[in-house]
Amino acid sequence: MPHPAPDPQGHPEGGRAEARPAPHAGGGPPPLFAVLGHPVGHSLSPAMHEAGFAATGRRGRYVPCEVRPERLPAALAGLAALGFAGCNCTVPLKEEACRLATSRSAATLRAGSANTLAFGPDGDVRAATTDGPGLLAALRAEAGWRPAGRIALVLGAGGAARAVAAALADGGARAVVVCNRTAARARAVAEALGSPVRASEGTPEDPRAPELARADLVVNCTSVGMDGAASPLAREALAALAPGTLVADAVYTPREETPLLAAARGLGLPCMGGLPMLAWQAALAWEVWFGEQGPAPLFLAAARAALAAGRRA
Ligand SMILES: NC(=O)c1ccc[n+]([C@@H]2O[C@H](COP(=O)([O-])OP(=O)(O)OC[C@H]3O[C@@H](n4cnc5c(N)ncnc54)[C@H](OP(=O)(O)O)[C@@H]3O)[C@@H](O)[C@H]2O)c1
Repeated sequence: MPHPAPDPQGHPEGGRAEARPAPHAGGGPPPLFAVLGHPVGHSLSPAMHEAGFAATGRRGRYVPCEVRPERLPAALAGLAALGFAGCNCTVPLKEEACRLATSRSAATLRAGSANTLAFGPDGDVRAATTDGPGLLAALRAEAGWRPAGRIALVLGAGGAARAVAAALADGGARAVVVCNRTAARARAVAEALGSPVRASEGTPEDPRAPELARADLVVNCTSVGMDGAASPLAREALAALAPGTLVADAVYTPREETPLLAAARGLGLPCMGGLPMLAWQAALAWEVWFGEQGPAPLFLAAARAALAAGRRA
């Protein structure tokens, strides 16, 4: 697929998706959507979107598809040929999805990853990232937190961290400090995004006290916590945060209350789990596909129910 220049359309505030809406005709079979990933069986996206279609009466079907990274170009061509209207991409496909699209907003290009694709009638594939804007929208909805003028400490330097750091910067944060186990990756993210994003001189295992004390927000974008046992920040580091510092976690499995959040809550710090971010990235994906936001509260309830059902299974 060709790699043309970025689509200049974008929303500088963050909290909104960037691509143009794709209209869908009323007759015929319902528009088809998929989530592509490897693995994909754990994804809560089918439960959220199917619940959204059922509750709103919007026509659509949404299925999970296991796609190995090397098969992504063929998978996207196949979806387009089958008449799919769009798809989400999850780990480890987001960066390649961004590269393979035929257009993407400047914000998506900055984030370097795409979690939402829309297939056009002429073979065009528009890419958007709703991960970072989804976190900002979730922080606003759940905690009334806005990035303008604030200082954020982002743990991790992978795809989620870069998308979140880009959205925080685009949302007007005064400083975004990226702190990662592999410091060189944090430096690479800071270099790619530029001011106000900078790399921490510490690591999550050995954070710098002033960076902790000054943070208004700490957001975990590492995969630490997915074992249900480990926390990316030690209790002493959490204790160094100023009272009122918001602690958010992108991780939401195996439980929404991750070890990081349990420890932070124990210290009286306000917390937000990963499910609101997940629900809002889905709501903003609807903006890309349908031109209007999806029902985030309904998505959140569906995700919580599916997570609970998965634990019982
Ligand atoms: N809630 C949501 O909507 C949402 C959206 C996107 C992602 N997420 C979640 O965010 C997490 C990260 O996703 P991603 O796509 O960014 O993954 P990724 O690109 O693979 O990055 C993983 C990050 O975690 C760090 N890490 C991994 N194991 C570690 C360990 N034992 N100790 C310290 N650091 C460790 C890595 O550090 P190194 O660089 O040193 O390897 C890297 O910074 C995943 O749990 C994902 O499910 C949630």
